[in-house]
Amino acid sequence: MDFRSHRALCFSSVSTFLLIVVAAQFGLPRAAIAAAHSARSSGDIPSMPASNAQLTNKHLNARVNALLSTMTLEEKVGQLVQYSAGVPTGPATDRQDYKTMIAAGEVGSLFNITDAKTTNMYQHIAVEKSRLHIPLLFGQDVIHGYNTVFPVPLGLAASFDPEMIQATARMAATEASADGIRWTFSPMVDIARDARWGRIVEGSGEDPYLGSAIARAYVQGYQGERLSDPTSIAACVKHFAAYGGVIAGREYNAVDMSDVTLRQDYLPPYQAAIDAGAVTVMSAFNSLNGVPSTANPYTLTQILRNEWGFQGFTVSDYHAVYELIAHGIALDSATAGQKAITAGLDMDMEGNVYHTRLSALVRNGQVPEATIDEAVRRILRVKFALGLFEHPYVNENPSAYVATPEKRALARKAAEESIVLLQNQAHLGQPKLLPIRPQVHTIALIGPLGDANWEMFGSWPAKGNPADVVTLRTALDQRMKATGGKVLYAQGTEILTQSEAGFAAALDAAKQSDLVLMTLGEDGPTMTGEASSRAHLGLPGNQEKLLEAIVATGKPVVLLVFSGRPLVLDWAAQHVPAIVEAWFPGIEAGPALTNILFGDVNPSGKLPVSLPYAVGQEPLYLSQLPTGRPAGDVNLMHPPQNAEEKFLSRYIDAPNAPLFPFGHGLSYTDFDYAPVTLNAQQVSLEKLQSGAPGIQASTDVRNAGAVAGTEVVQLYIRIRGASMEEPVRQLEGFQRITLAPGESKHVTFTLGLPEMSFINAQSQRVVEQGTEYTVYIGGSSQATQSAQFNVVK
Ligand code: NOJ
Repeated sequence: MDFRSHRALCFSSVSTFLLIVVAAQFGLPRAAIAAAHSARSSGDIPSMPASNAQLTNKHLNARVNALLSTMTLEEKVGQLVQYSAGVPTGPATDRQDYKTMIAAGEVGSLFNITDAKTTNMYQHIAVEKSRLHIPLLFGQDVIHGYNTVFPVPLGLAASFDPEMIQATARMAATEASADGIRWTFSPMVDIARDARWGRIVEGSGEDPYLGSAIARAYVQGYQGERLSDPTSIAACVKHFAAYGGVIAGREYNAVDMSDVTLRQDYLPPYQAAIDAGAVTVMSAFNSLNGVPSTANPYTLTQILRNEWGFQGFTVSDYHAVYELIAHGIALDSATAGQKAITAGLDMDMEGNVYHTRLSALVRNGQVPEATIDEAVRRILRVKFALGLFEHPYVNENPSAYVATPEKRALARKAAEESIVLLQNQAHLGQPKLLPIRPQVHTIALIGPLGDANWEMFGSWPAKGNPADVVTLRTALDQRMKATGGKVLYAQGTEILTQSEAGFAAALDAAKQSDLVLMTLGEDGPTMTGEASSRAHLGLPGNQEKLLEAIVATGKPVVLLVFSGRPLVLDWAAQHVPAIVEAWFPGIEAGPALTNILFGDVNPSGKLPVSLPYAVGQEPLYLSQLPTGRPAGDVNLMHPPQNAEEKFLSRYIDAPNAPLFPFGHGLSYTDFDYAPVTLNAQQVSLEKLQSGAPGIQASTDVRNAGAVAGTEVVQLYIRIRGASMEEPVRQLEGFQRITLAPGESKHVTFTLGLPEMSFINAQSQRVVEQGTEYTVYIGGSSQATQSAQFNVVK
């Protein structure tokens, strides 16, 4: 499948204004501009996502306006108020009187409730006791599954499989909506390039192209064909904007970045989600260039509404309106509320500011009532579109959740596709350690994550039940017993301890085995996700010490890393022959890992983030800008040609390159890439703008090994000769293909305006004449096959 359309969609909603600018820069006549624009809005690019059309529907808006005209100021403000009525996911306010507030029409939304009985109980109060009978909208962090917990989002991103991700989101929507939850605070699409930031686990990693394709998949999965379908849930794109850029990877910290970087690297996934029809957006905790996102008119109104045409509503992050005081831009909560609502922030999540301050702000003239009306309209539109007025309640006695074979099959597929084989070497004359050979009779399973269930969920486990998790130990035991082999299990150590009490038993098990599987890493629920920034990125506690002791036995060792972020695996990469990145795989952790380890499933996952040698390399990512004094080649892949040269851009004590680069992931087979061919060496900018399809880049990929395999074919570009520096390499296409042994496939990518464009110094998306494009195609960002073309007038 070609994911060009994801970016094309994103580009299609760039306003006519930008096309005019592009064209004007090259002196194109207005007719040509119009032709270019209409070519974009017809053809294979849908002009308006279905959910946007649902929100702008005339009949729906007539109902919204009719209702609005009957509301008192307090009732209007009530629609802008949201409280957490379950286990808090942030600092709680002292409000507990939800029933009274709902009956008085003072609350529009609740979250953190995960059972149908309770959502119905509150809904009955809203619909039957409040004067206007407006239903509540129940929200929840349904991030990577609800009952059926899938791999963490960073793991899902390693699949490079948006279709599969969409299917996981659909299943999550069906499960959550059964409990009355019609709104998820997902997808989290923050580009994250600093592994110290704990929330890197919640998104799709470092790359805007991949992130955009996946953002779209989540939205389509959650929202389905129609919002009014009772199994559809509204998506909430977060955290707007650029939360992934927090300084030093420290949670809740400030973000300071140029408008060019913002628009080129950080905004595309949010825009892709909006273009796919996401009906809500959550503002971020961070400030952006000194303005807190909760009260930032540039992001909430200028970009989101004026440039992107967003029709839905915005919600703050947890308690963030009140926190404008701590940010120092408001001296009191009234000013905080006034600044937020004026900037375009529609709903106050658990801030208790709109609830207590907005009416007075309107009465004393500091906030126009029209501003409140518009925010209420946006929220009511979504409530109507979801069909809440017609169907406010859910079945209170659904049959208890069962992780059926069908659900497990999707969870297993997702986990298998997310697992990345980082390294697979021979050991003391034996062939590559993986897949595990039939001669292996006794396996030592060692480490704190080999028999862990709850930990397999990672952050945001939603309603996951640890009892549904099949651990690696269970699956491995089954598999080995079936073939007459055995598993010796020893925990060895805990995730975060310095005690070596378990080392002896682990060493014992290792010595009796033919192969050791080490299961090491982070504690998913507590060390990754929100408020989990780390300054050290090694294996926690004394896990590396245990690894060193086991490796010293001379036994062949496979390391399975469970983590929600890139860890520093430098020592392991030098001493452990085989390394697998498992992330946190969800309920089917054990079967998925076992299938990969034994080769029943050939690994196909690719890194959505760069893995560092040292924490000092962070933030570390592929799409860096060039320097005048590059060390080695521009892609940072090779050491300096002249190692003696001092005046180069590099560290004196670590490489510039990552330990494992973006897009890397091994298979049990080998894929050969033929040279890249282009259908032309030149492309005319004028023709591109008048709708010509662009350059086609192709290659042939051959499975040169003995087993079938799936490869993620990746296309990268480098632009030179433009008015701006452009990244040394950036992803602009990928396709998953499956090949039988000996089979070849011809793979073609099209590079048109969306893929070729970049942001210029005036913050406009442009393609410039006189530029040279180098196209690389391969199985990782280190692809060596390349070809070039130029853009002419
Ligand atoms: C704070 C987090 O930043 C956000 O991602 C989440 O959706 C809210 N809390 C609600 O739990």
